[in-house]
This record gives sequence, C-alpha cells and structure tokens, in this order.
Amino acid sequence: MRQKMSGNLEPKPRILEIEPYVGGLSDIKGHENVLKLSSNEAAIGPSPKALDAYKLYAGNLSRYPEGSARELRSTIGKVNNINIENIVCGAGSDELLQLICRAFSGPGDEVLFTEHSFLVYRIAALASGASPIAIPETNLCADVDKIINSISKSTRIIFLANPNNPTGSFLTRSELLRLWENIPKNVLLVVDTAYAEFVTHKDYDPAFKLVEKAENVVVTRTFSKAYALASLRVGWCYGSSQVIDVINRIRGPFNVSGAGMKASIAALLDSNHLSAAIELNSKWLEQFPREISGTGISCMPSVGNFILLKFPDDIEKNSKAAEKFLYSRGIILRNVESYGLSDCLRLTLGLDHEMETVALSLKEFMRS
Ligand SMILES: Cc1ncc(COP(=O)(O)O)c(C=O)c1O
Repeated sequence: MRQKMSGNLEPKPRILEIEPYVGGLSDIKGHENVLKLSSNEAAIGPSPKALDAYKLYAGNLSRYPEGSARELRSTIGKVNNINIENIVCGAGSDELLQLICRAFSGPGDEVLFTEHSFLVYRIAALASGASPIAIPETNLCADVDKIINSISKSTRIIFLANPNNPTGSFLTRSELLRLWENIPKNVLLVVDTAYAEFVTHKDYDPAFKLVEKAENVVVTRTFSKAYALASLRVGWCYGSSQVIDVINRIRGPFNVSGAGMKASIAALLDSNHLSAAIELNSKWLEQFPREISGTGISCMPSVGNFILLKFPDDIEKNSKAAEKFLYSRGIILRNVESYGLSDCLRLTLGLDHEMETVALSLKEFMRS
C-alpha cells in the first residue's frame, strides 16, 4: 500500500510501497557467543588464500580499483569455461539484480517471481517503478506452468532463484528449458544461482549453456555463499552481449572493491577449499533430516546449504516457540515470516559440532 512521506519531498511512485529488507539477527542479548545459522554463508568460512590476498591488498587502499573487474572476470571465465566478455561483476549479486530491474523494467511493466522467493526481487521491481507479481508455487517449488500462465503483455522480467532461498527446491534442466521455451523473447529470464556451487544433483543446470543460446537469459552468481566472502560484497552475472552492454552502461564505474576482487580471485583458484565446503554441506543435507526425524519437525528437501524446517501448529511447538527456545540457547535460525512461511525457520548448515548442537536443542525443544 502506498504511504505518504512527511515533509515536502516525494520519492518516485512505488518506492514507499517497499518494506525495507530486514536481514537475519546477528546477536542475542545476554549471549556472548551466539551460534548464527541464519545467513547461508558456507560453514567452513573463506579460503585462507582469499584471506591472504585480502590482507596483501591493504597497501593499495588509496587507489581506485580497476573498473571493469578484468582480472576477476578472466578468472571466472577460466574456472567456469565461459566468455569473459559476457560477464559483469557487481557489489554482491544484489546489486546486479537491482541493476537488471532498473535497466529492463519500469512503470507499467510487470516483474514476476515465485511466491516464496528471495525478497530482493520485489524490492528491485518496486524501486524501478514496476509491478511485482508473486506467482504461487506447488509444494514449495517453482511451477513452470503457473509462471507461463502468469505472463502478460506487460511482463518484462522473470526472476527464478535456482535453487530457491528459503525453500531449497530447484527446477531441473528440462523444466528450466521448458520455461525458457515458453516465454516471449522480449521477456528477460533472470536465473539467480546464488547457491549453485552446493548443488550436486545430476539434473541441476547452472544455465550457462542457456545463456549462450538465448539473448533473453541472464544468470547471477555470488561469492557470498559457497566462498563465504559475504562481507566483501562481490557477485557476477553472465548474459548475452545485449544484456551485458546495458548493465555496463548503468553500473557504477568502480562498483567492485579492489580487495573484494583479489580475495575472490584467490577463492576461485582454491578449488580444494570449495570442495571441502561442498562435501561438508552434502553430508549435513543428508544427515540432519535423519538426526531430527521422529521429532515432529519436517525438513523440506534442499539442494542448497540450508534447510527449511516446518514446525507443528501447536502453540507450544510452533516456529515462534522454537525460535524463542533456540534464542535462549544462543542459537539463531532465520525467521522466514517475511517470505510467507510463518510456520517455518530456515537453518543454514554449519560445522559438525554446530549441527549437533542444533539437532540436540531441537530434540530437547520438541520433548519439553
Ligand atoms: C537467492 C539469493 N540471491 C541473491 C542473494 C544475494 O547475495 P549477495 O548480494 O550477497 O551476492 C541471496 C542472499 O541471501 C540469495 O539468497
């Protein structure tokens, strides 16, 4: 609903409809050492080589960084076997999602995304003056037919988080292709693959090949999750020359920090560290649901580095009560009420001892 600002200043239409993004909690009063499993950074933290590269950069802080992120794009290109001319880097993938919306949608246009998807899509749509349209999911997963049936003459952008945060579900290669085949060529499909590195499922497609054959597909990636460099704010996107050219025209000239670029390059080159992060994650994706089976909490199947936990309705055992109980133990999971999932909490997969602590605490909560 449109609100009114006090005073004389008026922002652009639709801006006041935006509910500012509220991230997960970071601290709990009375607890010095909280166990924060709420923002989906890889449990093992960043590569030590990335930290060294970051520290080494300290002597260059007075200088502007190289503006096109050439060295980082070149490393991304080599590691992923994709063309560096079709990559743009950004201050986190958030920045790129916002730039894409600003460049390709405006007043009178519609921006589509699924019901329980990343909150930034709605914010980015409204900020560009467009109408955000949330499309119902089926069993907490994007439904290709429902997306296709929601396309109108005004649709300009479809955001698809694959895998999706916070549900952990994903569209297979063939479903993704079917979606693209059924959208008009003047609609941009943004495949947000922030958690791609964690996905080991054989039917998952990072969508690079789709980008290479389609002008209207752009893929976004981030160094915040699997590489655990969230604080440095580095992301990138891969798209057709037309899309990349447009983003390059509107991005800030020095939108990625020098330290962020150097650390990201080192992280990309440390494939052993990434493999260790993926291995630990895969272990807990499988093990955690077993640990808490029979408690009455259900785990949504996930291919990311987080699991959506669904709690019973009972007032003593619901997600609110669980959140409070976990806080009392110094444990923070992500409240996902703003994602329309008030009966759930999202758990970021952590280190072995952290996962054991959470499992024990949840079992105790359900027994209490
Ligand atoms: C699906 C998804 N996309 C994008 C992002 C943004 O990540 P960043 O801006 O740190 O690259 C997140 C972060 O939570 C996310 O969950």
